Amino acid sequence: MQKKQKIVIYGGTFDPPHKGHFALIKAALKTLAPSVIYVVPGFRSPFKETPCAPFSDRAEMLRAGLKDAGLGRRTHVKIHPYEFKRGRLTYTWQTAEFFRKAHPGAELYLLMGSDCLETFHRWKNYRRILASVRLVVGARDGFALKNPRGLPYIKLKGRFPLIASAELKVRLFSGQVQPGLCESVSDYITRRGLYLTSLRRRAAKLMTAQRFVHTIAVTRLALALAVKYGADTKRIALAGLLHDIARDRTPQYLAAYAARTRLKAPALKETLSEAPILLHAYVGAEIAKKRFGVKDSEVLRAIRNHTLGSPSPGLIDKILYVADLAAADRSFPEAAMVRKQAFRELGAAYAAANYVKLVCAFRTGKWIHPESVKVWNKLSEKNN
Ligand SMILES: [Fe+2]
Ligand SMILES: [Fe+2]
Repeated sequence: MQKKQKIVIYGGTFDPPHKGHFALIKAALKTLAPSVIYVVPGFRSPFKETPCAPFSDRAEMLRAGLKDAGLGRRTHVKIHPYEFKRGRLTYTWQTAEFFRKAHPGAELYLLMGSDCLETFHRWKNYRRILASVRLVVGARDGFALKNPRGLPYIKLKGRFPLIASAELKVRLFSGQVQPGLCESVSDYITRRGLYLTSLRRRAAKLMTAQRFVHTIAVTRLALALAVKYGADTKRIALAGLLHDIARDRTPQYLAAYAARTRLKAPALKETLSEAPILLHAYVGAEIAKKRFGVKDSEVLRAIRNHTLGSPSPGLIDKILYVADLAAADRSFPEAAMVRKQAFRELGAAYAAANYVKLVCAFRTGKWIHPESVKVWNKLSEKNN
């Protein structure tokens, strides 16, 4: 009797692919000895933000990573464009049924990490998935394998590195070291300027070295707050990296820019005569739009509001305003306090940041921008 064909499906966003993914593929090859493993990058995930890297780059990174992991020449590990070709959100039950129809009579397996098994019963039509495939699960390092619904599955031998693409992305956005990435994937990212690598390089050229250090510190704190408060990390990184893009321009430049472009900024006339440097936030938003192609109105608004604040801030406004004041490069003692508070209650940290700025202006006898006063009044209105 002919042996049944074994086919493993491994879906994911792979944004970016990391060592944990390749370790799972290797283990599945060893345990199941399948005829083929189809790695299926998703168009987008029902659970995650829109992928940061386009499909073609994610497929290329997978190819590079498979090669690094010694799987490049194995013709039985294939990248399958099914979900991408559909061009829309595709659920796993649809992918499973596609492969079921394409390979009638084959034994189908769905490869996943143990974190997916734990929540598998919440996946759309999970019973339909189980009707097409058997689950193959790799346990993640440091976590007990949980199977709350007692679903049938095959456990892969060994433990698998605890790496999450979401965390990798956050580190990539702010230029931190990436031990979870294969070297060739890292190189590809740098070469192609993915995950804001090229934007960061371009932004650095418009700043002094010290400003860039500050920018990175702000971006890192803003990203940590984004993770805590569920904001889109790419949007936050964009706002962080570009917020001070015009800060190293002279007051004369800012004034000329404002005149030339008919810049819209609150109390523009007074600002021009009292503290034109404050205009860097508004000019910065224009540069972000015109030179960096940022179209996201909330990101641009956050850049505009990062110095004076906004009387009715959105989540990105709050995060950037607080991160700008409380970033690790700030040496005044209130910064650490506000930073701590930001992780407990963002709204309170926002009010505290406004307070710290006003007190500093009182102490030093500086002119206070009416917009900052507006923010103070609005916040005290809420308190009374
Ligand atoms: Fe600034
Ligand atoms: Fe700043």
